[in-house]
Amino acid sequence: MTVDLRDFIRTIPDFPHEGIMFRDVTTLFNDPVGLRETVDQMAAALGDQKFDKIAGLEARGFMLGAALAYKLGIGFTMIRKAGKLPGSTISEDYALEYGQATVEIHDDALDAGDKVLLFDDLIATGGTAEAGIKLIERLGAEVTLAAFIIDLPDLGGRAKIEKMGVKTHVLCA
Ligand code: PRP
Ligand code: ADE
Repeated sequence: MTVDLRDFIRTIPDFPHEGIMFRDVTTLFNDPVGLRETVDQMAAALGDQKFDKIAGLEARGFMLGAALAYKLGIGFTMIRKAGKLPGSTISEDYALEYGQATVEIHDDALDAGDKVLLFDDLIATGGTAEAGIKLIERLGAEVTLAAFIIDLPDLGGRAKIEKMGVKTHVLCA
């Protein structure tokens, strides 16, 4: 029987601001079944698609993005919030459901032509994912799939990313 990942994710109202229904994945990551199932379900969904790298978005995209990269036997590229990467970087400003931020990538993290799986825990407005895709494309690489554990479809992010011509996969909504 397929494990329903939604059973491991709790919703906390009014975090970090009033009116936001925050999907809390700490409970999913904290549970050995939830953790393993998430990685295994994502790996199974990828089928025989091949990627050169997984690029994960800080911070929640790091944990299982790295686990997935380990399972696929490929490298993991960090897309970090501004000011955290020590080498030469490029950056993109963006807005998300509850704020604004800047993300960066090392300018030598990917090779031109690399096929990249962009990974994050959740897509809401899609602002974060869009910024990540722009960084990857500016390095001459291609996001051949953007994958998320959770989609909040009412916020339209997944549709926005698909309109950019990037295929998406989500495990639950
Ligand atoms: C959350 C989440 C996604 C982003 C989605 O990250 O992990 O990265 O918001 O929102 P969007 O689709 O509206 O852009 P957050 O910036 O809260 O950072 P964190 O992972 O460090 O908690
Ligand atoms: N990132 C953006 N919107 C979010 C939400 N509603 N819950 C958790 N993370 C988010």
